Amino acid sequence: MRQIFPEHQEALGPADPLSAAGLLRPGDGAADDLVAALADIYAYPTPADGVWVRANFVASIDGAVAVEGQSARLSGPADRLVFTVLRSLADVVVAGASTVRAERYRQAQPGELLQRIRSGRPPAPPIAVVTRRVELDLSDRLFSQRPDRARTIVLTTELAGEERLKEAARVADVVVAGTHTVSAQAMLDALAARGHRKILVEGGTMLLGQLVEEQVLEELCLTISPVIEGGHGTGRLTASSGPAWLTQMRLATVLEDDGFLLTRYLRA
Ligand SMILES: NC(=O)c1ccc[n+]([C@@H]2O[C@H](COP(=O)([O-])OP(=O)(O)OC[C@H]3O[C@@H](n4cnc5c(N)ncnc54)[C@H](OP(=O)(O)O)[C@@H]3O)[C@@H](O)[C@H]2O)c1
Repeated sequence: MRQIFPEHQEALGPADPLSAAGLLRPGDGAADDLVAALADIYAYPTPADGVWVRANFVASIDGAVAVEGQSARLSGPADRLVFTVLRSLADVVVAGASTVRAERYRQAQPGELLQRIRSGRPPAPPIAVVTRRVELDLSDRLFSQRPDRARTIVLTTELAGEERLKEAARVADVVVAGTHTVSAQAMLDALAARGHRKILVEGGTMLLGQLVEEQVLEELCLTISPVIEGGHGTGRLTASSGPAWLTQMRLATVLEDDGFLLTRYLRA
């Protein structure tokens, strides 16, 4: 892996394409150095209120965010490593209900995170699902009550109804944060009230569209996968029904590994 921007002479990791499995093994000097370099690059800034909203996406060259409804085929070893680094650095991982259903989300697993960069914090961040009606399988692994897993947070609305809210509250930390929709600010307030300020949004497109529209997205980590998807019906990175607008972003970092570009943009 190498850093293209800002220009950096030394390789961040081995010249060969990453082998994710090998690189995540602690004790391997090259892997440890690479993880330390990535943790440094992706360290959360600390604004006055401590809240920072970062999103992480992978897309094809032509902008598709899913192949046959899932993002897995767009990803690769370097993207998976950065995905893991970003989760390891986050207080909470936020996802929209459609992403949770499409990608069969589960709670973050302490064993799959880089504990060496989570120092002093719980071994895994909770997943927070944003949903209007809680149309989620509450018996699913996302809601397991294992003591080593962080209890899932459900950010929802009054549309869910009292009965559904009660059922969800048995397996999750439920917050009713809106009547018909949860505003981005209401999401952030509910998460900050639980001590979660380093926020990682993993999608999907509707949720990202809303965060952009409400101007709370500070950072977008976008992996461009070296494939063309061909436009087989998948949407673009953000979905919104509001009027068009432009949010000016500033390029902060570009890494490259095996043809994958790992970019990082900050709100200008
Ligand atoms: N390439 C990538 O990096 C990446 C990342 C994530 C997702 N994806 C792909 O994107 C697709 C899913 O994205 P999507 O745009 O369809 O959906 P999404 O944003 O994940 O979820 C949309 C749903 O989330 C809930 N929701 C979102 N914003 C809300 C708000 N403000 N208040 C209340 N509820 C809210 C609603 O759920 P209810 O239905 O409960 O009302 C809504 O129908 C999947 O194919 C997934 O594979 C790709």
